[in-house]
Amino acid sequence: MAKAQDLPIEALLREKRKFPPPREFARRAVVNKASVYTEAARNPVRFWEARARELHWFKPWRKALEWKPPYAKWFLGGKLNVSYNCLDRHVTTSRRTKAALIWEGEPGDTRTLTYWDLYREVQRFAAALKRHGIRKGDRVTIYMPMVPEVAIAMLACARIGAPHSVVFGGFSPESLRDRIHDADSRIVITADGGWRRGATVPLKQNTDDALKECPDVNTVIVLRRTGQPVDMQHGRDIWWDEFVKGVEAKCPAEPMDSEDLLYLLYTSGSTGKPKGIIHTTGGYLTGIAATHRWVFDLREEDVYWCTADVGWVTGHSYVVYGPLANGATTVMYEGTPDFPDKDRFWRIVEKHGVTICYTAPTAIRTFMKWGEAYPKRCDLSSLRLLGTVGEPINPEAWVWYWKVIGNGRCPVVDTWWQTETGQILITPLPGLTTLKPGSATRAFPGIDADVLDERGKPAASGYLVLRKPWPAMLRGIWGDPERFVQQYWSKFENIYFTGDGAKRDDDGYFWLLGRVDDVMNISGHRVSTMEVESALVDHKAVAEAAVIGRPHDIKGQAIAAFVTVKAGVDGTDGLQDELKQHVARKIGALARPDDIIFSAELPKTRSGKIMRRLLRDIAEGRTLGDTTTLADPAVVAALKRQYDED
Ligand code: PRX
Repeated sequence: MAKAQDLPIEALLREKRKFPPPREFARRAVVNKASVYTEAARNPVRFWEARARELHWFKPWRKALEWKPPYAKWFLGGKLNVSYNCLDRHVTTSRRTKAALIWEGEPGDTRTLTYWDLYREVQRFAAALKRHGIRKGDRVTIYMPMVPEVAIAMLACARIGAPHSVVFGGFSPESLRDRIHDADSRIVITADGGWRRGATVPLKQNTDDALKECPDVNTVIVLRRTGQPVDMQHGRDIWWDEFVKGVEAKCPAEPMDSEDLLYLLYTSGSTGKPKGIIHTTGGYLTGIAATHRWVFDLREEDVYWCTADVGWVTGHSYVVYGPLANGATTVMYEGTPDFPDKDRFWRIVEKHGVTICYTAPTAIRTFMKWGEAYPKRCDLSSLRLLGTVGEPINPEAWVWYWKVIGNGRCPVVDTWWQTETGQILITPLPGLTTLKPGSATRAFPGIDADVLDERGKPAASGYLVLRKPWPAMLRGIWGDPERFVQQYWSKFENIYFTGDGAKRDDDGYFWLLGRVDDVMNISGHRVSTMEVESALVDHKAVAEAAVIGRPHDIKGQAIAAFVTVKAGVDGTDGLQDELKQHVARKIGALARPDDIIFSAELPKTRSGKIMRRLLRDIAEGRTLGDTTTLADPAVVAALKRQYDED
């Protein structure tokens, strides 16, 4: 495991530029008084109660917080419904005819759903689910492209109290199967396919492959999206349009307990098995609605676009639930940024008049590489605020985003959070915070973040932790309470450990340094080294594998795999390609290794532990660190020669 203090930061800290909020922006901002921080710090629970009161509750809570570490409950006894908060309470106001969702498909087709439209479609689908026998508490797996129906399905589940488990459409059939098993889900909502870079992703085919080993799934609802041919299994599979045919668009929202399960979302951790992160209802909605409004300085007339896929937590909190809870107009795009050309994102901004754009550093670095000509040919003057999430952003990319996309007018909010945190936790407030490129700046009001050393003492550099509970925090790992404790609560007593390293500067700003555990961050997506290793050793030619993340200009990190093949097998270029393909097939394309390095042996300690630190040194071309604890120091020298030759 890397020590936080080993991680490189000097380049970041040399970054001295500061960007105070533009005066006019600050004047009009949702939050522009520094006292919000001190007031919230004085009584965080009261602060969050005030935010919770901005939602609609069928029944008020009797107690705001019960904190029995590591378990927190928020707004105990309160009853509410997320779908009601996202829809019903807006349709009684002038927002009834406001665009809730502006959608653009990759081929260029568009649809706009008003709050009234969405309200009706969600009710219709929810009523159909109920008619089909789906009950409160049943887990529903959703494996869909970025189309309005994915939001409709999520909201319909929330409406009837059936928790969803959305699986990213880029995941393989095996990954889908594992998630269906773990959630013990009996129903899958999918589509024939989705569009991606001019081709179709075979979602139904993947679902069929996954379901070969899921005998308990008795219903598959299939949306027609691409029109590609699919097999429909009689008695199990039903087209979406037939599923809702004749169903009235009426389905009252189920009053849910504040602590009822809203959804599971699987994410990678330090083992080969993804974990189902548990998010509940009242605290989650409170956390995401408040952060969405404050961090993005939301105004009634904004057109807000978060480019994340709903398969990730960013899509849950800041494409669907946060914006809709706030009555905002949220933009959704199906495809890739380079189809049909590399200006697609900027064409979308221009066409729909996007005012707030929230994307990932990896995308920004890609745009930088493509060059200014693409954004320059589009009118981006509607933009007023930019955001990033998912990985540390290098100051060059930050400044490029600010200058080329924002034309030097738009604050850039670098937001740090995780699947587990549910909501943004470290972030600027754009009307208040002086920005420093590369820093996520400060903890959101009411959040107690700190950096600790190995012994748990506050330090300028070390492990990022959260000392106090926050409303949208995870409530556990589905079916694995021990792992929950082990993963997040065992390093420091009663303090949540994020798995990230961080530094603080003289102003107390946080500078995120990446993961300190065995989790890689590939283009802002979490992949565990162990997951890739077990996919590799699953191949018949492989005896042993060790995987690390190495720095990559665009993706942040790329996967390098050191592989020992079985006796009698030759490590050829052909085998390298086959292994890359094998991992992509097992997990999904996002986990495809960039490098496969064959090695007769892997460097191990005398107790048999693979020394990843040395592998990192090799992959990053550094002089080798201490090799004295190695069982056979010659192995490393040989490996390094091998890597340099490749
Ligand atoms: O390492 C941090 C990085 O992404 C991890 C969380 O990944 P995930 O659960 O997939 O959620 C991503 C979207 C919220 C964190 O532990 N990370 C996320 N945002 C930032 C970041 N690292 C640096 N700066 C950020 N703004």
